[in-house]
Amino acid sequence: MSEVLERAQVLDKNLVLDAVRVTEIAAIAAWMMVGRGDEKAADQAAVDAMRTALNDLDLEGEIVIGEGERDEAPMLYIGEKVGRGGKTKIDIALDPLEGTTLTAKAMANALAVMAWAPKGTLLNAPDTYMDKIACGPGYPAGVIDLDKSPAENVAAIAKAKGVQPSEVTVCVLDRPRHAEIIQSLRSVGARVHLITDGDVAGVINTADPTTGVDMYVGQGGAPEGVLACAALKCVGGQFQGRLVFRNADERARAARVGITDLDKKYDLHEMVRADAIFAATGVTKGALLDGVTFKDGFVWTHTLVMNSSTRTVREVRMKRPA
Ligand code: FBP
Repeated sequence: MSEVLERAQVLDKNLVLDAVRVTEIAAIAAWMMVGRGDEKAADQAAVDAMRTALNDLDLEGEIVIGEGERDEAPMLYIGEKVGRGGKTKIDIALDPLEGTTLTAKAMANALAVMAWAPKGTLLNAPDTYMDKIACGPGYPAGVIDLDKSPAENVAAIAKAKGVQPSEVTVCVLDRPRHAEIIQSLRSVGARVHLITDGDVAGVINTADPTTGVDMYVGQGGAPEGVLACAALKCVGGQFQGRLVFRNADERARAARVGITDLDKKYDLHEMVRADAIFAATGVTKGALLDGVTFKDGFVWTHTLVMNSSTRTVREVRMKRPA
């Protein structure tokens, strides 16, 4: 899409606060289930709250990244229409609870996450895995490449930064399937920052110098890939992803959302084809955000909200009577 057309598709900046309210409500609902050992109930609480909040807004939204296909997700399923209607027509990508296990086990870094973009501009990613690689802003275009080895990508990042590979830190989901990637990264001396869950934050961390993370690599959910791209669209950075299909059912999922080239390597701007608003509220405290807190009859939340059309990044602290 040309930059002129892309710029023409800009969301009203007043939507930013609406987006904040939606992720705040989902995070508060999920927080009620922190540490209770029930991933499904935690997710359901966040889904119910987010759906109610979305249906209270004067917009016409369609869920393109949601809780799953219609037959498996009664709420916030792919294709569901939300909002009271109006002139604003948007694609919605959401993960009401990114980190269901983190929440159930009261571990750090659980988030309520959502991205909005003009209708028809978010990749309708199927619910499959995706091979991903990402880095933050400030590097020459094409510095990372999904088709190169993790070691080669570390070397490229190190060269661009003017440091040794041993000074490069790479975030990877701690999974047995990533053993080779981790081995390749360590073979050139890179630091590997392992996370147990939550690769939306893992990717965003590459754009936040305070985390020390330079690059993200590995296989995670494709829906989470779109959400992470919406965030990078706002702060800059690079991303490449390729869908991973393990069986015929997953290939059929891709067909249902209109994907015909199953081997396509997507970049950031193919996954989010116009300006976007991204919001994430912390459920449990993490590197990116503080978690929900209840104290003295009040509830506090901490939200990151970004608008790519204005390149605005805000942190919003909300306090209200509980
Ligand atoms: P959930 O919140 O749906 O449990 O997802 C957490 C997550 O860690 C994502 O951030 C990541 O993309 C995906 O799961 C990885 O999948 P898996 O746990 O199957 O490796």
